[in-house]
Amino acid sequence: MYHVAPPTHGARKKQEHADMSRILIIVGTESGNAQMCADHLADNLPRLGHEIEVAADDDVARADLEAHEVVLVCTSTHGDGELPDNLVPLAERLRGESPDLGRVRYGVIALGDQTYKATFCKAGKDMDDLLASLGAQRVGERLEIDACTQPLPDEDALNWAQEWVTLL
Ligand SMILES: Cc1cc2nc3c(=O)[nH]c(=O)nc-3n(C[C@H](O)[C@H](O)[C@H](O)COP(=O)(O)O)c2cc1C
Repeated sequence: MYHVAPPTHGARKKQEHADMSRILIIVGTESGNAQMCADHLADNLPRLGHEIEVAADDDVARADLEAHEVVLVCTSTHGDGELPDNLVPLAERLRGESPDLGRVRYGVIALGDQTYKATFCKAGKDMDDLLASLGAQRVGERLEIDACTQPLPDEDALNWAQEWVTLL
């Protein structure tokens, strides 16, 4: 887990940043692409006034979604449409405990590969469905990044996220 606060500025900047959000990014990854996207967001969104926490690796299992109002799931798909291993314990806990996520607004960045056809970005879709089933409200459309045609997933993720934060 790491945490990036917005840079501190004077009163004028604080006013500009009145709409800042505290965003928890949940990373599901096997080979690092989703992590690269999350890191790029953590490098850039604080400059727009947003506070970013990134839960990665084994920390994802302990991520406290209920304590956050804004969550961004950034996950690839592996196997035959499966969640990355590091995301499985969190998904199992949410399914088992069914917490009330009615206070949570969320977005999804789903990384995949269109050659997998029926399971394209399925882990991102499944996390989207899971959060919605627990009462969380999705903000904006899900971003789906195809490894075959989109060679710069971190740039695509940032372009999308810069729009997404304006919807929060
Ligand atoms: C063994 C394997 C299985 C995969 N299965 C799927 C799949 O079912 N659906 C999909 O959309 N992408 C699938 N992918 C593509 C990955 O999701 C894609 O390459 C992604 O960018 C990997 O991100 P990561 O490095 O964060 O894990 C698979 C990739 C590998 C290597």
